Amino acid sequence: MTRATKRLNFAPASMLGLLLLLLLLDGPRAEQIDANDEEVDRFCYPTKHRNTRLSCECSNVSAAPWGMRALHIDCSYKDFKAEDLTGLLPLYIDTLDLSWNALDRAPVFSSDSLRLLNLMHNNISAIAANNFGHLASLRELYLSWNSIQQLDAQAFQNLPHLTVLSLEHNNLHTLPTQIFAPMLVLATLELSWNRQLNESIGQDVYRNFGINQKLQKLRLDACNLQELELPRTVPLEELSLRRNPFERVPSQLPGSLRSLDISENRLEHLMPEDTRHLSELRQLFVEDMPRLRSIAAHSLASLHALESLSFQNTRSLNYIDGNAFVAESGNQTLPPLKSIIFRGTLLRTFNATLSPVFGQLTELDLNGVPLNCDCQLVWLKSLNVQTNGRCLHPARIRGMLISSVRRDEFSCERWPRWIYGMIILGLIALCAAGVYLIVMGLRPHRGVTMRRKVGAGSPYARVTIEPNRQENVH
Ligand SMILES: *[C@@H]1O[C@H](CO)[C@@H](O)[C@H](O)[C@H]1NC(C)=O
Ligand SMILES: *[C@@H]1O[C@H](CO)[C@@H](O)[C@H](O)[C@H]1NC(C)=O
Ligand SMILES: *[C@@H]1O[C@H](CO)[C@@H](O)[C@H](O)[C@H]1NC(C)=O
Ligand SMILES: *[C@@H]1O[C@H](CO)[C@@H](O)[C@H](O)[C@H]1NC(C)=O
Ligand SMILES: *[C@@H]1O[C@H](CO)[C@@H](O)[C@H](O)[C@H]1NC(C)=O
Repeated sequence: MTRATKRLNFAPASMLGLLLLLLLLDGPRAEQIDANDEEVDRFCYPTKHRNTRLSCECSNVSAAPWGMRALHIDCSYKDFKAEDLTGLLPLYIDTLDLSWNALDRAPVFSSDSLRLLNLMHNNISAIAANNFGHLASLRELYLSWNSIQQLDAQAFQNLPHLTVLSLEHNNLHTLPTQIFAPMLVLATLELSWNRQLNESIGQDVYRNFGINQKLQKLRLDACNLQELELPRTVPLEELSLRRNPFERVPSQLPGSLRSLDISENRLEHLMPEDTRHLSELRQLFVEDMPRLRSIAAHSLASLHALESLSFQNTRSLNYIDGNAFVAESGNQTLPPLKSIIFRGTLLRTFNATLSPVFGQLTELDLNGVPLNCDCQLVWLKSLNVQTNGRCLHPARIRGMLISSVRRDEFSCERWPRWIYGMIILGLIALCAAGVYLIVMGLRPHRGVTMRRKVGAGSPYARVTIEPNRQENVH
């Protein structure tokens, strides 16, 4: 089979005619394609690695809508060093995966078509100036899980179309000013797990580092941040601040946020000021908080657009105020909330004032919550959702699902337990007293002694029996 027919086989039937025409009209281009096939071979199956596990996997896909060739090259898990790779990439290359190799620097590639470059899990420690400057179409660049400590001030020069940049799990401390400025349409910036990034991230982040104002997603997990100020007016939608030492939710965050993850931080009480400016928020994650104990009154009332809320595994959380969703003015406008997760918390009871909010949920997860099933909690039975909540108290229904406990079993003891104790003690004391009295009553009276004077009138008087003299008359 000739190269030309191979190409034709690849094209979808509908494109066949068009492609033929193109091939006929565009002679030089056809030659270029032929040359490129050798190039693909050179890149994917280099002679020196032929028949070894070091060759890459190259696969053709036809990218919609024109059935254009797009080449995906997967060179992951190969122990490549940077010098093993040729800089000129094959024509039509679309994605290049070089993750899990032994690259000690980011290779300098050139290609007009490369859209995605994955360099995760290597040993890159620095990015030089203009390292990716010859990848004019690059949209996504993944540099996470390396040991990058140094970024040249011009490291991301000439990447005007980049939308995703991931630098997670590196060793960045300080970022050069305006480092992100060349990326004019950057939409996602991931900087999580650079544990000493607190040295440069704090105030004025957008301005200092030239972050695109239209950024949509920002991830700053585990960066040791104690303070953060982002402009209120930028249209950021997703922010992740997991596993930082924040003691309050940062007070200056973009008002447009739709998703905020503040899990694994050091808040002890969720307060109204934590959520005051987040009226657009749809999702809030407050999971795995080691210290969070309570959700204060009004603290969730400003979240007018909230759809889902998770406190999963916040193991010390033991109180949610009945007015958590009620504004300080006393006004309750119900958010369009659909899901609340309390799985793995220590909450024991829910005030019935929460019922309008809980009543509209399609998911309420109470797995592992040690519920106190008394008369104050019986309202939970009228919810339509399956919560998987089980009773811990009282003992006679311990371990039973709320849904299978009868309403009348949610009873309240009218008096506290110690009163029952006192009553029993009192009864015992009364019995003891009664027994004592009976015993005392049966004993003869102290005044009525059996001792009587033995005297002349007494029946116990001494009787002297004398011999009968009449028998001795003679
Ligand atoms: C991809 O498809 C083209 C055209 O059909 C063909 O010439 C080329 O050999 C293919 N490359 C690979 C790596 O399969
Ligand atoms: C990673 O690079 C450093 C120097 O930057 C080197 O000391 C280390 O041995 C390298 N690690 C691996 C696994 O290659
Ligand atoms: C960054 O965090 C570390 C660890 O908590 C701390 O020792 C250091 O002082 C912080 N640096 C700044 C500038 O806040
Ligand atoms: C429930 O909330 C209402 C209103 O805040 C309050 O008056 C009541 O005392 C609460 N009930 C319990 C058992 O905490
Ligand atoms: C309560 O809410 C309504 C409409 O949401 C508003 O018109 C009213 O002024 C609010 N009342 C108070 C005391 O804020």
